[in-house]
Amino acid sequence: MSIDPYNLAGEAAAALKAAAGLDTFDVALVMGSGWVPAADAIGQVVAEIPVTDLPGFQAPAVAGHGGKIRVVRTPAGRHALVLLGRSHLYEGRGVDAVVHGVRTVAAAGVRTIVLTNAAGGLRPETQQVGDPVLISDHINLTGANPITGTTFIDLTEVYSRRLRELAREVDPSLAEGVYVAFRGPTYETPAEIRMLRTLGGDLIGMSTVLEAIAAREASLDVLGVSLVTNPAAGLSGEPLNHEEVLEVGRATATRMGVLLAKVVDRL
Ligand code: HPA
Repeated sequence: MSIDPYNLAGEAAAALKAAAGLDTFDVALVMGSGWVPAADAIGQVVAEIPVTDLPGFQAPAVAGHGGKIRVVRTPAGRHALVLLGRSHLYEGRGVDAVVHGVRTVAAAGVRTIVLTNAAGGLRPETQQVGDPVLISDHINLTGANPITGTTFIDLTEVYSRRLRELAREVDPSLAEGVYVAFRGPTYETPAEIRMLRTLGGDLIGMSTVLEAIAAREASLDVLGVSLVTNPAAGLSGEPLNHEEVLEVGRATATRMGVLLAKVVDRL
C-alpha cells in the first residue's frame, strides 16, 4: 500500500524539526538551479540536513541541484529553511516527489515560501541575462497537477502581490513576468518559444508551478523569483546548455543572495 503523501510530509516535518533542534521556522526558500551559490548570503548556517535523512526524499538527479536542507538564522534572527535543490517532474519520480519539499515545510509550520528558479527569457527585448524577475503568474503546461480529487483551489493570486511589493521595496528595479513551465528535460524548440510569447509568457522553465500549487493548497504565501540565465531557444541564435545556467547562477550569487536575505528579513 502506498503511503499518503500528506502523512509522509508530516513525518518528514517531524524528522526535520528533530534534526534542526527547532520547533518553528519563519520561512522556507527553494533554491533552484543557479541559485544554490546564493544560499550562503542568507544568514548563518545552524544545521545542514541531507534530504535523504528525511522520510520521502530522494537525492536529486541533476548536478548542481543540491540535495540538502539548511537551517539558517538570518541577521534579524529569523529561522529559514533553505532547500538546496528540488525534484523535477522530468526525473520521473512523479508529482508527489516534486512537491514533497513544499508539503514538508508546510507541515513544519512555515507560512511563507520563496520559490526560485532558473529560466529562459522569452522577452530579450527587455530582459538581460543575470536579471532576477518576480513571477506574477504562471501557465502550467507540464500536464500535471499535484492535487487529485475534488479540491478546487483558487489560483487567482498564486504569487502574493504583497510579497512582490515587499521585494520591490528591497529592489525597485525588479521586473515582473509570467512563468511558463514545460515538463522538460528537453529545452524548447524555437516554434514552441514563439507560441509561448504569443500566449503571454515572459519566462520559461521546468519547475516551480507544481510547487506553487501545492503551496497554495497548504495556504502558504508564495514569492516566486526567476533568474534569467539565457534568451529562450531561437531568440539568440545560440544553442542552450545546463552549464551556462549554472554559470549565470555563480556569477550572480552575491546579488541574488543579498536580495533574498533582505526580503526574508522584511517578511
Ligand atoms: N528553458 C527551460 N528551462 C530553462 C531554460 C530554458 O531556456 N533556462 C533555464 N532553465
